[in-house]
Amino acid sequence: MDVLPYINEHKKRFLDELFEVLRIPSVSADPKFRDNVIEAAEFMKKKLQEAGADHVTLIETEGFPVVYGDKIIDPALPTVLVYGHYDVQPADPYELWETPPFEPVIRNEKIYARGSCDDKGQVYMHVKAFETMMKTNSLPCNIKFMIEGEEEVGSSHLNDFLRQNKERLKADVVLVSDTSMIANDCPSITIGLRGLSYNEVEVTGANRDLHSGVYGGAVGNPINVLARMIASLKDENFRITIPGFYDDVIEYTAEERAEMAKRPFSLDDYKAELGISDIEGEAGYTTIERATIRPCLDCNGIWGGYTGAGAKTVLPSKAFAKISMRLVPNQSSEKITELFKKHFLSIAPPSVSVKVTPHHGGEPVVTPTDSIAFAAANKAMEQTFGKKAIPTFEGGSIPVIASFENILGLKSILLGFGLDTDALHSPNEHYGLFNFYKGIETIPYFYKYFAELSGSRAPVSQ
Ligand code: BES
Ligand code: ZN
Repeated sequence: MDVLPYINEHKKRFLDELFEVLRIPSVSADPKFRDNVIEAAEFMKKKLQEAGADHVTLIETEGFPVVYGDKIIDPALPTVLVYGHYDVQPADPYELWETPPFEPVIRNEKIYARGSCDDKGQVYMHVKAFETMMKTNSLPCNIKFMIEGEEEVGSSHLNDFLRQNKERLKADVVLVSDTSMIANDCPSITIGLRGLSYNEVEVTGANRDLHSGVYGGAVGNPINVLARMIASLKDENFRITIPGFYDDVIEYTAEERAEMAKRPFSLDDYKAELGISDIEGEAGYTTIERATIRPCLDCNGIWGGYTGAGAKTVLPSKAFAKISMRLVPNQSSEKITELFKKHFLSIAPPSVSVKVTPHHGGEPVVTPTDSIAFAAANKAMEQTFGKKAIPTFEGGSIPVIASFENILGLKSILLGFGLDTDALHSPNEHYGLFNFYKGIETIPYFYKYFAELSGSRAPVSQ
């Protein structure tokens, strides 16, 4: 199999097409972009059709549609279900982008745009790898595509979708590129992701905003109270203080931790890249462990009172925050949300009232490393990077991965080509041209080795 000549010949067009979809602001969290999210779905549909997929359709859900398409070349061959998402995170704050988030440009060999890496760039590698295999007559497996539009808001309608489309989604494994590798010269395959519990809290004090001179010092200030409550959620060792929070957390053995520590990592580079002079986190764990196999709690946003120009002397009536917890294997999103809610209400002083509203969640996952599919992913990476891939745990979440297993009985391969430094969810998100093209080159080898190791015959035309 030699896919490179085709990829090289069409490289410019592949990139132009990716730019087209990057121009569509498909922000699922913001109702103002509703039509754009659907436009991105239509784009994926059209491109799957052009690449040669059959049964291409938008399947409606209670939320945004799922783009489906397949190519069944022989029912006797193994089937790979490709999953990704066409929605993106909000691009705010816009003023921190060097160039506008939905006007992709190349700088320093990187594509700058919201969604360039997460996940349009990575999804598009699959569409173009599929086109390449179709055009070079080298598709060795059956493929099904399922590209959704609500990943960045918790994939809350996907469980119903999976239940309703079990037959259509029958496959041997799920292949996903929505994660990162260690470095361009250090390929890795993700074997674990964290789960999530995301909550919004509202703290109310007096029945109206008050003059801070007349009432300040005598009446509870919801912002001060909220800050105190949030601060109390971690102790001096950065352990989360919610009772029962750690009860289900799996502790890794010394051997497992030693294995994980082999992954190359420079704390100095890490700090320098983030522009910080020191790190902080749970005592007794390394930075990589803190960011992957340990749970954490973070305030994602906090507001209230007067934030306009100049000064206004006011004691606000309300304060708000969005608080997330990343969860690790064996923790349950639902259970942690309950524990958080109970605890947060219990620590509210009588001077305020508190409301907790859970948003979305997701379960943590660990993927097997002893499967044919994992071996195929390893061989594919070794083939195109000339190096063995390192298995890694990562700290982000992809809620549907646990559902693939629970509802469809399918394991996933998390074969991502991004880098942690690609500024996902941040201003100036980017994706390396190297990574985009390397993905398109590597993916066909996954299919080749997956078919070979599954004991299938190679397609006649090869
Ligand atoms: N691609 C990310 C997840 C990710 C990022 C995995 C980096 C591994 C490394 C995904 O699109 C994402 O951001 N998911 C959300 C899910 C949430 C909204 C339920 C996340 O992790 O915040
Ligand atoms: Zn994301």
